[in-house]
Amino acid sequence: MTKKLRYGLIGCGGCGENKHLASYKRFPNDVELAAVFDVDPGRAKAVAERHQIPKVCSSYMELLADPTIDLVSIATPNVMHAPIAIAALKAGKHVHIEKPIAMNAREAQAIVNAKNRARRKVMVALNNRFTEASQYARRYVEEGHLGEIYHARCGWRRRLGCNMYGTWFADKNLSGGGPLIDLGVHFFDLTLHLLGFPAPVAVSGACYDKLAHPSKADKHMKSVMMGRDKAAGKHDVEDFAAGFVKLETGVSVAFEFSWGSYVEKDMSYLELLGSRGGLRLHDGSLKMFSEAAGALVDVTPQVKNTTGWGENETRHFIDCIRQNKEPLAPPEEAVKMMQIIDAIYASSKSGREVRIRSRA
Ligand SMILES: NC(=O)c1ccc[n+]([C@@H]2O[C@H](COP(=O)([O-])OP(=O)(O)OC[C@H]3O[C@@H](n4cnc5c(N)ncnc54)[C@H](O)[C@@H]3O)[C@@H](O)[C@H]2O)c1
Repeated sequence: MTKKLRYGLIGCGGCGENKHLASYKRFPNDVELAAVFDVDPGRAKAVAERHQIPKVCSSYMELLADPTIDLVSIATPNVMHAPIAIAALKAGKHVHIEKPIAMNAREAQAIVNAKNRARRKVMVALNNRFTEASQYARRYVEEGHLGEIYHARCGWRRRLGCNMYGTWFADKNLSGGGPLIDLGVHFFDLTLHLLGFPAPVAVSGACYDKLAHPSKADKHMKSVMMGRDKAAGKHDVEDFAAGFVKLETGVSVAFEFSWGSYVEKDMSYLELLGSRGGLRLHDGSLKMFSEAAGALVDVTPQVKNTTGWGENETRHFIDCIRQNKEPLAPPEEAVKMMQIIDAIYASSKSGREVRIRSRA
C-alpha cells in the first residue's frame, strides 16, 4: 500500500478547521493528520483535540521543519500566505493555499518562483472551480455550445454581510483589500477558468467605502448595514467594488462585489454571453439559454452539487501529489488573477483605465 501523506494545517480558524481539516479528514486512506499551528495557541490546541491531531507546534517554522510532513494547508490571514508558502516550499512541502493566493501579483509571482525551485505542488484553494455545476459549465463551454463568447458578468453582492469591523478582513495591511479581493477572486477566477484563462489587458475599476465611512451628511445615521459597531475597530478597505476588465481574447468582463449594499438579497452570479448561447451560474445553479426549432429555449442541466465545501478540491490535490499531475487551480493563473485585482485598486485610485502588461 502507498504511504499516507502526512498533513499539517497552518491557521486553525473557520476555513482551516471547517474546510481544510474537514475535507482532508474524509480521506483517511490517503492522509494522516499530523500537526497544527495557529498564532493563537488555545485555538490550535482545541482544534488538535477535536480532530485527534497528535502535534501542536509553537511556530509555523517548527511545523515546516518536521521532515515527516509532506503537505500543508495555509489558511491564515492573507498577509501571511506568501511568506508561509515560500518557507513551506523551501522546506520541501506540497502547499494547498487559501485564496487569495497572496496580497498582490508580486507576492503571487514569488510563490510561483519558489514552486519552480522546489519542484513541489502548489494549489490555490479555489473551491468554486470544483463544484459539479462549475465543472459541467466548463465542459459546456469547451464543447463550443455558446459559440463565440464575447462578454461575461460576474458578481457577489451581499446585503448585510459586512460584520467586519475589527477583524483582519477589514484591515488592509492584513487582507490586501475588501470584498474585491475576498469574494472577487472566487468569481473572477471561475469566469476566467471557464474562458480558458486569457490574460487581462486593461481594467477600469471603482471602489467605494460609503457604508463603512459615510460622507459627512450621512454620518448621523444609525445604520445596521455594517453589522458590527464601528467602535469595534479598523475598517480601511472598500465595501463595494465594480468595474470592467478587457481580456486579450477581446472578451469583456463586468463585475461587482460587495460585503453589504441596499439590495433585496444576497446573490452570486456568473453569466457568459456567446454568439450561439448564454450561460448563467446563479447561487450555484446552472442554466443555459439558446434557441432550437425556431424558438428561444432555456436549458437546466441536471447537475447537483453533492459534495461538501472543499471535498472535490482536496481529493484532486491528493491525486495530483500521488500521480505527479499539475493541479487544476495552479498559482500561475492566480498571478494573472492578482494582476487584475491590483489593477482594479490602482484604477480606482487614479480614476483611469489601467493597462496590464503580460509577463509571459
Ligand atoms: N475558500 C473559501 O471559501 C474561503 C472561505 C473563508 C476564508 N477563506 C480564506 O481562508 C483564510 C483564513 O480565513 P478564515 O475565515 O479562516 O479566517 P479566521 O480569522 O477565521 O482564521 C484565521 C486563523 O489564522 C490564525 N493566524 C493569524 N495569523 C497567523 C499566523 N501568522 N500563523 C498562523 N496562524 C495565524 C488566526 O489566529 C486564526 O485562527 C483567508 O485567506 C480567507 O480568505 C477562504
